[in-house]
Amino acid sequence: MYKISVAGAGFVGIVHAAVMANQGHKVILFDIDPKKINHLNSYCKNETNTMPIYEEGLEELFRRNYREGRLNFTTDSYSAIKESEIIFIAVGTPFDDKEGKANLSYVEGVAKLIGQVLNDNPIYKLIVDKSTVPVGTGEMVKNIIKQTYSGEFDVASNPETLAEGSAVKDALYPNRIIIGIDSPRAEKILKEIYAPFFLHNASKIHVMGIRDAELSKYAFNTFLSAQVHMTNVLANIAKESGANWRAIIPAVLGDERIGRFVHPGLGFGGSCFRKDVSALKRTATDLGLDEHTINSLKIILEQNEYQKLKLNKKIINLFGEDLSGTTIAVWGLSFKKDTNDVRDAASLVAIPDLLKRGAKIRAHDPQANEEFIKEMKSKGIDLTNLTLVEDQYETLNDSECLFITNDWNEYRNPDLEILKTRLKKFIIFDGKDLLDYNLLKQKEDLKYFSIGRPDIS
Ligand SMILES: NC(=O)c1ccc[n+]([C@@H]2O[C@H](COP(=O)([O-])OP(=O)(O)OC[C@H]3O[C@@H](n4cnc5c(N)ncnc54)[C@H](O)[C@@H]3O)[C@@H](O)[C@H]2O)c1
Repeated sequence: MYKISVAGAGFVGIVHAAVMANQGHKVILFDIDPKKINHLNSYCKNETNTMPIYEEGLEELFRRNYREGRLNFTTDSYSAIKESEIIFIAVGTPFDDKEGKANLSYVEGVAKLIGQVLNDNPIYKLIVDKSTVPVGTGEMVKNIIKQTYSGEFDVASNPETLAEGSAVKDALYPNRIIIGIDSPRAEKILKEIYAPFFLHNASKIHVMGIRDAELSKYAFNTFLSAQVHMTNVLANIAKESGANWRAIIPAVLGDERIGRFVHPGLGFGGSCFRKDVSALKRTATDLGLDEHTINSLKIILEQNEYQKLKLNKKIINLFGEDLSGTTIAVWGLSFKKDTNDVRDAASLVAIPDLLKRGAKIRAHDPQANEEFIKEMKSKGIDLTNLTLVEDQYETLNDSECLFITNDWNEYRNPDLEILKTRLKKFIIFDGKDLLDYNLLKQKEDLKYFSIGRPDIS
């Protein structure tokens, strides 16, 4: 069992402190706002019947752990930090509309104090950020502490995933825990703390880097916001067109792909998505819907076209705007694996752009060659500098680099030694984040550019 302190007796801090105490840890919740602490004090002493926040089950949980001596609260932040081995930061990070960014001053305040306490009492502590913070805040906290203390400590990220209204249930029975660490010691401690929540399924504890964990919280909320947004856009259109959105919901929820398209790439393609979103946008326009609703659909289409050229921009950064004299091996022409359909494929945008800049292309696809040529001809594109090759590895001959645009299985685990020896430069552009990143990181002389992973260069 650990000695834990929690900074911030707000919604997250109160619930987290109570749940940690309930696990048997010795917990001190501290806040700079005496009103919050006095309120908790009155509640625990039965002078008032309410807590500063209402959540089902919280009152009983909080009071019981207080009575049983595992949970305490204070405004004496210094002592609370001093007494603890682990400090969870759960202070507010409101968005500052004037500055246009998250206000991290409360996090900074806690970090400064931790630095002072550590300097006065140099014993290892783990500082865990539970607040929702922009990527890089863990680094910031570390640097603030280092300004006053040069000894051992770790910073980790553990973004809160509970939702108001079901906070106690979410915290007692979490469906997942995110742990962002950069040290084995921090990983061991946090796994120990959270293991009891998942006795039969440790795979629900997601361990990743600190930056990954920080961004994950924004990913959850942005996906969910986008879903609410799109639901409202569709309901607006349903309403005006005489359809009933409520009747459609079960069928939408029955599409198991919804919510699962989380692998990044060079945009969506195929015969349906662009055509159907475009047609729906037209319907919304004809129905006289507001510009926000229409623009929501427009932006999907525009961003998708931009995405198709995402890696071309990287190629240009590396080889220059003028690609004459540069040969590029391309794997993948169809819009996705296991089909010869090239309609709206990224290859139909990315390859013409490279050809236009003077590049020579040596391309391979297991099934889509014929369809691709037909489509390129119908667009009037000069094919002189395009060669289609039967064997995927033969595309590499005379090529400076490899560009993967789709996800056929044969592209997933290529022989990297062949790539290294045959390519003029060991450079890979991976438009589907397909290759084994950990393996690539071990390769000397490799430059690797993908969509959602850090570059290797
Ligand atoms: N509320 C939610 O549903 C929820 C869910 C998940 C994550 N989060 C995130 O968790 C964080 C906290 O959210 P909240 O809703 O609990 O905030 P809150 O505003 O309710 O509480 C924050 C508390 O921190 C205290 N505080 C400020 N500076 C302090 C310091 N230096 N030392 C000690 N205490 C200090 C404040 O007095 C306040 O009581 C935010 O980053 C938020 O985005 C919130």
